[in-house]
Amino acid sequence: MIAPSLLSGDFLNLHKDIEMVNNSDADWFHLDIMDGVFVPNISFGIPIVEAIKQIATKPLDVHLMIVQPEKYIKSFRNAGADIINVHYEACTHLHRTIEEIHATGAKAAVTINPHTSVNLLEDIVSMVDMVLVMSVNPGFGGQSFIENSFKKIERLKEIILRKNSPSLIEVDGGINSSNAPLLFKSGADILVSGNFIFKSADPIQTIRELKFCRG
Ligand code: DX5
Ligand code: ZN
Repeated sequence: MIAPSLLSGDFLNLHKDIEMVNNSDADWFHLDIMDGVFVPNISFGIPIVEAIKQIATKPLDVHLMIVQPEKYIKSFRNAGADIINVHYEACTHLHRTIEEIHATGAKAAVTINPHTSVNLLEDIVSMVDMVLVMSVNPGFGGQSFIENSFKKIERLKEIILRKNSPSLIEVDGGINSSNAPLLFKSGADILVSGNFIFKSADPIQTIRELKFCRG
């Protein structure tokens, strides 16, 4: 599956980019929420998610790069989030936070930064719907893919299978048609892509290229 990140879209013309994703082979919208504290950048918040929801015809995958994400679960759910991703590094009581996300009816995902070992997920992987592996340090679109991510995905896949978890694996950051085939091969189910899609000459075709590169 492919989840285009609107962070790389045209903010003066989001309507056009949302329609493009609606009409493409993409599966979800990936929405990057940054607070300027957890990550060194500020993006957009609840009112924008609410506006996107009005015309998006695919699920909203909301990636919270914020401290104390538990404070905003209900607000993002009410704004239209279908999947809520919280960072492992931002949650002191991750187990409770996952329960709180599920209580709203949303799917719950835990996200790990490049420095966080997948081994730390042993005791939480059975209760999440997805693990999001960051393949760049979060905060900005257009960064270079960190090669160590392949190994992390393979090890995470082993843990998921061993624990009999239904969890999907999503990967986010620096993804393009060169690394996508190996990411799918390593065990990724969903690839997020921002710059590679939105800065390309034909985003619809680029989405198709990413989606079908697993052969
Ligand atoms: C990074 C974000 C990513 C980013 C992906 O902090 O979480 O979703 O927008 O963009 P690219 O594909 O350009 O790295
Ligand atoms: Zn993201």
